[in-house]
Amino acid sequence: MEMLSILVIALSSCVLLHCHEAVEGSRYPETGNSECRILEQQQPYLPSFHFRPPQNWLNDPNGPMWYNGMYHLFYQYNPEGPLFGDKMVWAHSVSRDMIHWVDLDLALTPTEPFDMKSCWSGSITIVPGNIPMILYTGIDSNGVQVQNLAFPKNLSDPFLEQWEKSTRNPIMTPPQGVPGDFFRDPTTAWRDPGPDGKWNVIVGGLIKNEGMAILYQSEDFVSWTKAEHPLYSSPGTGMWECPDFFPVSLNSSNGVDTSVVDPSVKHVLKISSFSNVHDYYVLGSYAPKTSKYVPGNEYTGSSTDLRYDYGKFYASKTFFDQPKSRRILWGWANESDTMEDDLAKGWAGVQAIPREIWLHSSGKQLVQWPVEELNKLRGQHVQVLDEKLHSGSVFEVEGITASQADIEIEFELHSLEESAEVFDTTGTDPQQLCSDSNASVKGGVGPFGLLALATKELTEHTAIFFRIFKGSNGFVVLMCSDQRKSSLRDGLDKTPYGAFLEIDPQHEKIALRTLIDHSIVESFGGGGKTCISSRVYPKLAINSEARLFVFNNGTVDVAISSLNAWSMNTAQKNRPTQSYALLD
Ligand SMILES: *[C@@H]1O[C@H](CO)[C@@H](O)[C@H](O)[C@H]1NC(C)=O
Ligand SMILES: *[C@@H]1O[C@H](CO)[C@@H](O)[C@H](O)[C@H]1NC(C)=O
Ligand SMILES: *[C@@H]1O[C@H](CO)[C@@H](O)[C@H](O)[C@H]1NC(C)=O
Ligand SMILES: *[C@@H]1O[C@H](CO)[C@@H](O)[C@H](O)[C@H]1NC(C)=O
Ligand SMILES: *[C@@H]1O[C@H](CO)[C@@H](O)[C@H](O)[C@H]1NC(C)=O
Repeated sequence: MEMLSILVIALSSCVLLHCHEAVEGSRYPETGNSECRILEQQQPYLPSFHFRPPQNWLNDPNGPMWYNGMYHLFYQYNPEGPLFGDKMVWAHSVSRDMIHWVDLDLALTPTEPFDMKSCWSGSITIVPGNIPMILYTGIDSNGVQVQNLAFPKNLSDPFLEQWEKSTRNPIMTPPQGVPGDFFRDPTTAWRDPGPDGKWNVIVGGLIKNEGMAILYQSEDFVSWTKAEHPLYSSPGTGMWECPDFFPVSLNSSNGVDTSVVDPSVKHVLKISSFSNVHDYYVLGSYAPKTSKYVPGNEYTGSSTDLRYDYGKFYASKTFFDQPKSRRILWGWANESDTMEDDLAKGWAGVQAIPREIWLHSSGKQLVQWPVEELNKLRGQHVQVLDEKLHSGSVFEVEGITASQADIEIEFELHSLEESAEVFDTTGTDPQQLCSDSNASVKGGVGPFGLLALATKELTEHTAIFFRIFKGSNGFVVLMCSDQRKSSLRDGLDKTPYGAFLEIDPQHEKIALRTLIDHSIVESFGGGGKTCISSRVYPKLAINSEARLFVFNNGTVDVAISSLNAWSMNTAQKNRPTQSYALLD
């Protein structure tokens, strides 16, 4: 326990280290003397409360866990520069709250024949004896993807900084029919019920173009045998990366441990589609006796599949946070600028804010919400209550730092029956609907919503908005995040994103929460039923120049029943390893 308090001291003593400075050869240079304002001007896109190191390339979250009082996050990192590299490593940080972070030594680097060309993604399983075991993909010296095992060198080290690779590696090699470059990303393992229950793990792969979750089983966590059938597969869907498999409770929004199997849970299989670059999921039932998983709906890899996030959010992974009985989701939001931009910035990739994830009471979809710890960063607060938003009106939310903010807003609609545009949305791709319209295309009810990272004259803005249609089966709510006016700069990916929001707008208010952090905008519609994340790079609406507006471009008025907006403080996350070493 004594050692644990060091972390607390380290976290609370670095309040002054607000900004980050790129110094060659170190991930987390000393920042005490840095010129914050100059840096802010040079790095207007570096997020302030989202997780990422100050420089270089980051992608998938790896092996997130809670262990002995601390949250651990490992992640794919290229120590050599801001682009994806051919010697990828596992970087490692720890936290008390998943918001403020302490940086540690790299956990896994290419050193052995079984991972000589990279240590790619994987997961952690805590096995009996309270030992966290890493399963990860190594790119071996022949360029073949194999699965490896690693464990902490010293279980008494509260940070678990050093990791040891098993001498039995590789423990899985590509099975018959699976190409050597399509066999990767082991999940957290789950254990079958009963005293002798065997371990199960899935690995992403494909045979021909049939994507699959290849199932392996083990008695001892070291010797693994491929099961006769994959846990699940779907023809024509291409490679499945970073699968995730976990139970969700039918009773409540509480999370459950990965090995729980009983009639009060459903099982989620998440698939990161290598072809579509989206995280899709299916809900189904799992039978441990037969090792069979039966999803309620087939995964097709098309716009009708359920997704975690309808913007940029990929290679995600969950873990069970036992002390708070919740399941937490981490996901990667990559850049929408060019490689040249990334070289100039010196960094690429952001982890989205960790989200709590659970099954909606309808049983039909998952819900996500930023972890409650994020609220600790809320500073300056403004509130608007019972305001009418007239047709064609725009008003500015003043008094907060609009480049670094958290906004919660609730819209109330009237006269839907008379005003909603009649349009049968059956079979239409909502993203296409958002592309066909925009904030200035007048509808009946909507578009209304937020203009984030906007200039005064609205020449730049990211529009997060809703539109209501009257379809053949009742009202349909469309939610869009439109990046097309997000920047006056060229060469950016400004694709508009969209999804339907499964609520009844006649009886429910339309709630929106949006997190704005310089170049990342994460939006949660309907209390987290529809999530859309985007990456944007305004030319003018940066730092203190950024503004926030609410608008209504529908034909009918809309009421804001409440709006709460907060300036967000900067998370402490760039602690040099040396500083806490000095404390012990
Ligand atoms: C293991 O970690 C503990 C706590 O940090 C430390 O006291 C001990 O010396 C370490 N053991 C080894 C073998 O490094
Ligand atoms: C759901 O509630 C039942 C009855 O109280 C309980 O037995 C079961 O363990 C609960 N399941 C979960 C996943 O919490
Ligand atoms: C990253 O972003 C680019 C451009 O926005 C996109 O085309 C690409 O598919 C993304 N890659 C991943 C792995 O998310
Ligand atoms: C919005 O749509 C209208 C009508 O299709 C079009 O004239 C306008 O250029 C669009 N604006 C943007 C920013 O795409
Ligand atoms: C609302 O529509 C009008 C007319 O098309 C347009 O000039 C204005 O820019 C739109 N407002 C927003 C926020 O897009």
